[in-house]
Amino acid sequence: MHRDEIPTPALLLDLDRFERNLARMAAHVRAAGKALRPHAKTHRCPEIARRQVAAGALGVACAKLGEAEVMARAGVPGLLITTEVVAPSAQRRLTRLTGEAPDTMVVVDHPDNVLALGRAAAADGVTLNVLVDVHVGARRTGVEPGEPAVALGRLAAEQRALRLRGLQGYAGQCAHVMGWAARREASRAAMEPLMDTRARFAAAGLPVEIVAGGSTGTHDIDVELAGLTELQAGSYCVMDLDYRRIGGRGSEALTTFEMALTVVATVVSVAADRAMVDAGLKAFSTDKPFPPEAVERPGVSYGFAGDEHGRLTITDASRPPRLGERIEFFPPHCDPTVNLYDRLWVLRGDKVDAVWEIAARGRSD
Ligand SMILES: Cc1ncc(COP(=O)(O)O)c(C=O)c1O
Repeated sequence: MHRDEIPTPALLLDLDRFERNLARMAAHVRAAGKALRPHAKTHRCPEIARRQVAAGALGVACAKLGEAEVMARAGVPGLLITTEVVAPSAQRRLTRLTGEAPDTMVVVDHPDNVLALGRAAAADGVTLNVLVDVHVGARRTGVEPGEPAVALGRLAAEQRALRLRGLQGYAGQCAHVMGWAARREASRAAMEPLMDTRARFAAAGLPVEIVAGGSTGTHDIDVELAGLTELQAGSYCVMDLDYRRIGGRGSEALTTFEMALTVVATVVSVAADRAMVDAGLKAFSTDKPFPPEAVERPGVSYGFAGDEHGRLTITDASRPPRLGERIEFFPPHCDPTVNLYDRLWVLRGDKVDAVWEIAARGRSD
C-alpha cells in the first residue's frame, strides 16, 4: 500500500526516523552508564514498547494501571506504573497484574496507600514491587523529600507483601524549559532533593537499587546525576513541536531526536482565501498555544475550525491547496494526539510497512 492510499485523517510513523530515535537514546544511556525505562504514555502501543525493549530498555513506564494491563498482556516486561494506585478495585487489579507479571512496580507517596497495597498484595499472595515517589517540585504527586520520604520507605520496607526497590522523582516542570542551559539549571535544582533523599535511604539501609526520573527534555542533563539509575523519557521516540522548540545542547531546536510522527489530512473544500482539511479537534490535541505545522508544504498555515475541520489560510497565493491534496502536519503534542487514534500507519519511505495498534488508547483507568 502506498502512503497516498491511507484513509485520512490518519496518524503516520516514519519508521526510519523512529528507529534512529530509539538507537540514539539507547546509545546515549549506554554511554552514560544508565538504564532506560521509556515512558509508554507517549505511544500506548505494545509494538513500540517491544521495540524499545529490543533496543535495550529494561521495560516501559506506564502512566496508568490500564496502560500497564495492556502492556503486560502483550508480553512487555519491566513495567513501572508512575501514578499511585489508590482505589480498592484498582488495587485488586494491580495484585492480579502482579500475579501475571511479577516484575511490575508501582509508585507510592502516602502511608495509607502503602498499608492498603501491603494488605491487598498479602491477601492475593503476591509480592508487589514499590518505589517511593518523591515530590521534586512539579506539585503533582510525591511525598516530600528527606525525612518524610525515608519514613515512608521504612513503612514500605516493613510490609511483608511489598518489596521496596528505591525511588522515583519526576520533575515535569523542567522538561520544557526553553534553552538547554536554563533547563539544566532548573533540573539540577529540582533533582537535588531526590539525590539527597537517595543518600538518606542508603544511610538508613533502605534500597536504592532503582532511582528513576527524567524526561526527553532533560535526557542529556539528568544522566549527570551519579545517583540516578534510570531515565524514563517518553516523547523522544516520536517527538513533537512542543519538544522541538525547547532547544538542544548548542542548538536552537532540539534535533537529537527526529520528528517521526505526523497526521495526514485531505483538502476537502477550497475557496479564494482558504482551504479546509478533514482534520480538526478530533485529529490533534489542542492543549498547546500553537497549531499543527504543515510538513514541507509552504504557503499555508493551519487553524482549528471545529471537530472535523482545519482551516488553511493561504499565505502564498502562488501555491493554493488543490482539492484532494494530501498534507501532513506535525502535531503540537504527541501523547494526547496519539490517544485519539486506534492505529499507527508505519511507513518506510512511501510504502506502508505495517499497521500498529495503539492498544492502550483510552486506557487512562
Ligand atoms: C512520570 C513521568 N515520567 C516521565 C515522563 C517523561 O516523558 P517525556 O519524555 O515525554 O516528557 C512523564 C511525562 O509526562 C511522566 O509523567
